Amino acid sequence: MRTHYCGELDASLVGRTVTLCGWAHRRRDHGGVIFIDLRDREGLAQVVFNPDARDAFATAEKVRNEYVLRVTGLLRKRPEGSTNPELRSGEVELVAREVEILNASVTPPFQIDDDNLSEEVRLANRVLDLRRAPMQKNLRLRHRAAAAVRRFLDEQGFVDIETPFLYKSTPEGAREFLVPSRLHDGHFYALPQSPQLFKQMLMVAGFDRYYQIVKCFRDEDLRADRQPEFTQIDVETSFLDEAAIRALMEALVRHVFRVAAKIELADPFPVMRYDDAIRDYGIDKPDLRVALKLVELTDVMKDVDFKVFAGPANTAGGRVCALRLPGGGALPRSQVDGYGELARTLGAKGLAWIKVNESAKGAAGLQSPIVKNLHEKALAETLRRCEARDGDLILFGADRAVVANEVMGTLRQKLGHELGHVEKGWRPLWVVDFPMFEEDAEAKTWKARHHPFTSPKDGHEEFIESAPGKAYAKAYDVVLNGWEIGGGSVRIHRPEVQEKVFRALNISKDDQRAKFGFLLDTLQYGAPPHGGIAFGLDRMVALMAGTEAIRDVIAFPKTQRGQDLLTGAPTPVTEKQLRELHIRLRNSPQS
Ligand code: AMO
Ligand code: AMP
Repeated sequence: MRTHYCGELDASLVGRTVTLCGWAHRRRDHGGVIFIDLRDREGLAQVVFNPDARDAFATAEKVRNEYVLRVTGLLRKRPEGSTNPELRSGEVELVAREVEILNASVTPPFQIDDDNLSEEVRLANRVLDLRRAPMQKNLRLRHRAAAAVRRFLDEQGFVDIETPFLYKSTPEGAREFLVPSRLHDGHFYALPQSPQLFKQMLMVAGFDRYYQIVKCFRDEDLRADRQPEFTQIDVETSFLDEAAIRALMEALVRHVFRVAAKIELADPFPVMRYDDAIRDYGIDKPDLRVALKLVELTDVMKDVDFKVFAGPANTAGGRVCALRLPGGGALPRSQVDGYGELARTLGAKGLAWIKVNESAKGAAGLQSPIVKNLHEKALAETLRRCEARDGDLILFGADRAVVANEVMGTLRQKLGHELGHVEKGWRPLWVVDFPMFEEDAEAKTWKARHHPFTSPKDGHEEFIESAPGKAYAKAYDVVLNGWEIGGGSVRIHRPEVQEKVFRALNISKDDQRAKFGFLLDTLQYGAPPHGGIAFGLDRMVALMAGTEAIRDVIAFPKTQRGQDLLTGAPTPVTEKQLRELHIRLRNSPQS
């Protein structure tokens, strides 16, 4: 039907007869001459209709936006002064000889190149939205990334194996989506949060290296970087230790970013222990582009006569830390108060601060609601540790460590960006040595930090039941510019260790059998040492594309409220459908 793509035309083709197919992007009537910008996936081409090509001209008069056309004509150089350097085809135009309307279009709700559309309008009209150049670019970037993944893993001997979507309900972390079974009254499948246990079983089955680019389903609260269904690059290997797995997987990430997006990432990625990440950045996925660190002050504040600091400093599990914002001393009071408000929404009880003005004058040279509460030694040590200089603002967090870390870590990241303490470029990072368990303070129980199949570090097996808080895991995350793009671990391959973990998690023997019997049984048949990782493909591509929301790199995403505005899902279903599935709604007549 066509000889070229619109967006491919350039001066080298001048003088050729060319046939294009595409959508009428814009039509301009210049008294006697009609111009139509024709659009296809490669871009735009200008088509000129002169009245002397009478039939073509008459047809062009009927064309409206988004009509589908096939045009044949002679390619010529555009006249002096009418070239468009923004377009690849900007030096040439097609003089139409024949045109055929392949299909008409109703008037679209927006012009396809409108960049100021609300997300709601975009998602409700997703097909038209996908015609826009940035979306075409993003989805083709995603394709290149996926292709690069497959190529790399294929060359490294990985085998792509599919695993079921209709799975079994298991307590693996996030809330699951359930699918009622028609054939089994009252029974449900669950959609997998990840293929975790299947990939482990494939290792026991001897495949040695598995991968899959696979949808995962989690019924979580949604955010810009979270969708209820998202895509993992899921990987598992046998007979490799933690270091070898990480080396191979970071090579994959480097390859994909280079091939798909021409982005060069550090070789090797730096490695940071979880505890160090929390100490210096408050969170386990620090954006290393922000050149600020938290400053430890817990020990300094033990003997100050200021409850706000001394309380947490003298309580087990408490923390006092500071964040120095260079140049922040010049910020107006209202802005500093605003940070206090932000800290409160993050769970803090307040946000103490010091503006360092004339530090040479000691306390008199500082502006602050709290210096009067700190003795001279504590104040001097605080300024010394913060490396405070005149003109700085120092913010303080004092609370249970989990709260102080979350608050100060978030402030570091957010204010660092806002106030320009950001370096350009790409900062990948391994965060390693995660604790195996975290305490649910209210329920007084332990839960798995990663997932319950994660192997303890060598020598930590003994802590699993006796002191779960001391057990660290062979678990690792990949962080890039503050986004967790992947996470994995070496797995438990011995059934007795797996049972220990289940006991620490307070999963009873009966529950172990009921939920994970298939895994425990499988592990008994000579499970090899194995481990792997899963990357969030959506997040990786969003980073490459330079967008904040993974919705921009997913063809048909859901809103923050889990709705698909294009199809209208989720929708009510009929009574008959429900009856077949043995489901009765609470307010239906049968119940
Ligand atoms: P994890 O739960 O860390 O690990 O998930 C791996 C990666 O998947 C991405 N991700 C998401 N992306 C978009 N929307 C979501 N709701 C979402 N949830 C997670 C993140 C994350 O790093 N089975 C283990 C992996 C393993 O141990 O091998 C797992 O699923 O980028
Ligand atoms: P107060 O004595 O409670 O009025 O607090 C004095 C200063 O400490 C105020 O600037 C509060 O915002 C701040 N503040 C209170 N609680 C905390 C906390 N847990 N962490 C950090 N700063 C706090």
